[in-house]
Amino acid sequence: MDPGLAGLNPPQREAVLHDGGPLVVFAGAGSGKTRVITYRVAHLVTERGVAPWNILAVTFTNKAAQEMRDRLAKLVGGRARDLWVGTFHATCARLLRRFADQVGVRKDFTIYDDQDSRAMVKRVLKDMELDEKRYAAKLLVNRIGREKQEVRGPGDMIVGNVFDEQIQRIYAQYEERMAKANALDFSDLIYRLVLAVESEEALRVELGRRFKHLLVDEFQDT
Ligand SMILES: Nc1ncnc2c1ncn2[C@@H]1O[C@H](COP(=O)(O)OP(=O)(O)O)[C@@H](O)[C@H]1O
Ligand SMILES: [Mg+2]
Repeated sequence: MDPGLAGLNPPQREAVLHDGGPLVVFAGAGSGKTRVITYRVAHLVTERGVAPWNILAVTFTNKAAQEMRDRLAKLVGGRARDLWVGTFHATCARLLRRFADQVGVRKDFTIYDDQDSRAMVKRVLKDMELDEKRYAAKLLVNRIGREKQEVRGPGDMIVGNVFDEQIQRIYAQYEERMAKANALDFSDLIYRLVLAVESEEALRVELGRRFKHLLVDEFQDT
């Protein structure tokens, strides 16, 4: 028997051994969900002969990703290096760089955090001679992030009033300046990948072929 299974209780074991289609595990905090995903990855590699590079495990927090990587290094040894384990954002960034040509970004893009994005919005406001007090950078960054989350570029925004129209212009300018700076913000990391996967059949096929096993931790938080 797989020695890794000794560290699991019966329901955890069942989830680790699950064969075939999608499986969703709902269980309370601290009940061992991250452990189940980690052991399942190890099981796929050591017992089912799955190549590590065919497995993608995504988490919500850096902490969970780190825990999983540390644990997997112990469970599967050197093969852990070829596993894809990371947060949603880090995984998307890695995929965007790897498939940069197909996505239409430069491989060497810079990632802007919220602070950087706010500074960029402030530059846009200055360019447009708009009052920073009337258009708070923080709120604008949040709004732009929400639009990207809904997979809407400036042209796809639902505009209901003149204020929205102004936000739409700011968003468009922001995107232009971001492109010139070769920068992607946090929301872009997911937004750009979603756009590319939706529009590029070849990319969809390639990702489907590559990642035969997808494990998502902390799905409830998304
Ligand atoms: N069957 C088990 N035997 C021993 N320790 C366990 C077992 N299941 C979970 N744990 C431990 O309990 C803690 C919480 O588990 P974790 O997987 O992080 O839970 P969750 O992701 O559901 O919040 C961790 O320290 C984990 O190692
Ligand atoms: Mg967890």
